[in-house]
Amino acid sequence: MIKQQLSRFNRMELLGAPTALEKLQRLSAWAGRDIYVKRDDTTTLALGGNKVRKLEYLAADALAQGADTLITAGGLQSNHARQTAALAAQLGLGCVVLLENPLGTNDRNYLHNGNRLLLDLFDAKVELVENLDNADDQLHALAARLRNSGKKPYLVPIGGSSPVGALGYVRAGLELAEQIKLTGLDFAAVVLASGSAGTHSGLAIGLSESLPKLPVVGVTVSRSDEAQRPKVQGLAERTAELLGINLPSSFKVELWDEYFAPGYGAPNAGALAAIKLVASQEGLLLDPVYTGKAMAGLLDGIGRNRFDDGPIIFLHTGGAPALFAYPDIFSG
Ligand SMILES: Cc1ncc(COP(=O)(O)O)c(C=O)c1O
Repeated sequence: MIKQQLSRFNRMELLGAPTALEKLQRLSAWAGRDIYVKRDDTTTLALGGNKVRKLEYLAADALAQGADTLITAGGLQSNHARQTAALAAQLGLGCVVLLENPLGTNDRNYLHNGNRLLLDLFDAKVELVENLDNADDQLHALAARLRNSGKKPYLVPIGGSSPVGALGYVRAGLELAEQIKLTGLDFAAVVLASGSAGTHSGLAIGLSESLPKLPVVGVTVSRSDEAQRPKVQGLAERTAELLGINLPSSFKVELWDEYFAPGYGAPNAGALAAIKLVASQEGLLLDPVYTGKAMAGLLDGIGRNRFDDGPIIFLHTGGAPALFAYPDIFSG
């Protein structure tokens, strides 16, 4: 049913084959629990990550509308801005991004290295703003300015997390459900970083039909459970509406908010330990903003018996380019 409904939407094919679902052998032995990783860090386009899946639907929509410029917003080290700018370059579209400095830092690497460095290579036009407290209004104002100068902008919301963007993760959920079935295993949960919510909402919808009992745990990276819950639930409802389906009665938003302090983009000890552990055990790169915090949650969750029995899947959403914006965090 969901697959059929999804097939009605235009999709620009950026991903080839499904991303791999792999067992992390050494980390599993270390943790005393089987841990699998869904490798969305290996998606195509400019060092990979989850945004490619959302952009498959967003870019198709932009081209259908005759857009000549993609506009979006995020933090200075936004992975989403990086991948949007790369796609604009590939398609020969303009790209304008509004960037804020969520840490208020003057650190040279944070301001110029990592994802921010790549934006310049893709010829994205960057406009620095004081904050993105009213991001939708700020993006609409930018769109109006560009229209006045004869451009045809397409507004990609922060994180690509509109119902159209979330379709990419509905598709990923269907893909993962098929891979899970092939393993024959009874997984305890899928764990992922939950930010602008499109990944979490879409994935949970995509898994809900064939695996209604599988918990999808979002480790928040910027908000309390109370603040994040309506974002995930609301986007899931709007995405279901776009798809023309009802959210299944089993649909449940599960959030763990103990792992993001001191705030968005600010590393913490648990995330740094998780990054170091996974790199040294598996040669796999996590990042201090999203996946390091999500993995810290997963490992702590095992230690505190927060999961039912069974192996656990970690959705690796990418983000490693940001490591180069924080080169000093491991030296202290
Ligand atoms: C590496 C990485 N992981 C996870 C997320 C969170 O995804 P979402 O914003 O869809 O919740 C992001 C969002 O920017 C990201 O860049």
